[in-house]
Amino acid sequence: MKHTHARRLDAIEPSIFATMSQLALEHQAVNLGQGFPDFDGPPWIVDAFTDALRSAKNQYAPMPGVQRLRRAVAGYHKTFYDLDWNAESDVTVTAGATESLFSTMMAFLDPGDEVVLFEPYYDSYFANCLLAGAVPVCVTLHAPEFRIDAEELASAISPHTRMIVVNNPHNPTGRMFSGEELAIVAEIARKHDLLVISDEVYEFLTFDDRQHIPFVTLPGMRERTITISSTGKTFGMTGWKIGYAIAVPSLTQAVRTVHQFVTFAVNTPGQHAMAYGLEQLTQYLPEFRALYQRKRDLLYDGLRESTLRAILPEGTYFMMVKLPEGVHDDVHCATRLVTERRVAVIPPSVFYQNSDEGKSLLRLCFAKSDETLREGIQRLQNC
Ligand SMILES: Cc1ncc(COP(=O)(O)O)c(C=O)c1O
Repeated sequence: MKHTHARRLDAIEPSIFATMSQLALEHQAVNLGQGFPDFDGPPWIVDAFTDALRSAKNQYAPMPGVQRLRRAVAGYHKTFYDLDWNAESDVTVTAGATESLFSTMMAFLDPGDEVVLFEPYYDSYFANCLLAGAVPVCVTLHAPEFRIDAEELASAISPHTRMIVVNNPHNPTGRMFSGEELAIVAEIARKHDLLVISDEVYEFLTFDDRQHIPFVTLPGMRERTITISSTGKTFGMTGWKIGYAIAVPSLTQAVRTVHQFVTFAVNTPGQHAMAYGLEQLTQYLPEFRALYQRKRDLLYDGLRESTLRAILPEGTYFMMVKLPEGVHDDVHCATRLVTERRVAVIPPSVFYQNSDEGKSLLRLCFAKSDETLREGIQRLQNC
């Protein structure tokens, strides 16, 4: 056949997650690579799903999402952040945050537009830019602090810049950006009249009593920000793929224009169950946070004796570790770890375009059973 695929796919590399998961499977490795829990979410959410299945909630949902879920999203934004959103006009339920990201990029990017990403980045931002014909421009968050630098950000802006993508709490570094760092981004967005995607899927995975700052609360950001989050992360049910995008009506309309032709609507019973889940957030969150903080500490403390230097995450369920001094080949290390030690991790250099810093780091995920974490820690000693 003459044409195999569109040229825009040429720049999109196969995902490292598939490669590592395959190796993990072949070597029966302990998997600290895959970025999702290896245990189930709350049984009462599963009950809510089955209740919905049995009460005839099985036909297409409305295109923007089940009203009860959109109200629950608006409701928790009021309760937790004192933000007022209109469930009808401002909230769109999508197939995970992934679809929100895709639909938003398709809705606002024209070929040749530049999009500022902070590296290391979540890989779908980069791919989505390319699918939209846009040009990703990366600004490095330098290890081990991973702070946003005002000058480096300013120098990435050009007359073609259309959008900045912020992810906070940040995958893979575990950073929660401070109010000052977010203000740097907001100032640039105002000055150059840019749109901002704020990916806040880990908004509730925050440790040591740190408070999440929704980007939209910064001055002048409400009219230019699309906030994206995911019930998959909040309830540890990533397989249900129920996320949402929140924005003022003019922005929401554009996102929905794409969404209606990508998925049209997301599975109905899952939306009802997640609406119920979000209605219980206040009672649910302390236990959820305590669980993950304990797992973070288990992994962090367990690595104290190893040659890997763990960087304590402030949020998310990821932890970056520094390879021993002089080692600068994360892909080689990750491959050796999975084949020789039978423990799978992610080599983060794949999340960078400009900097080599990722070559001296590895990303571990601690959303794993205590048994898996202990086994992983043991296999990571003396490496
Ligand atoms: C930063 C970030 N954004 C978005 C997503 C995708 O979320 P979802 O599973 O809801 O599509 C992930 C999943 O790992 C993520 O880490």
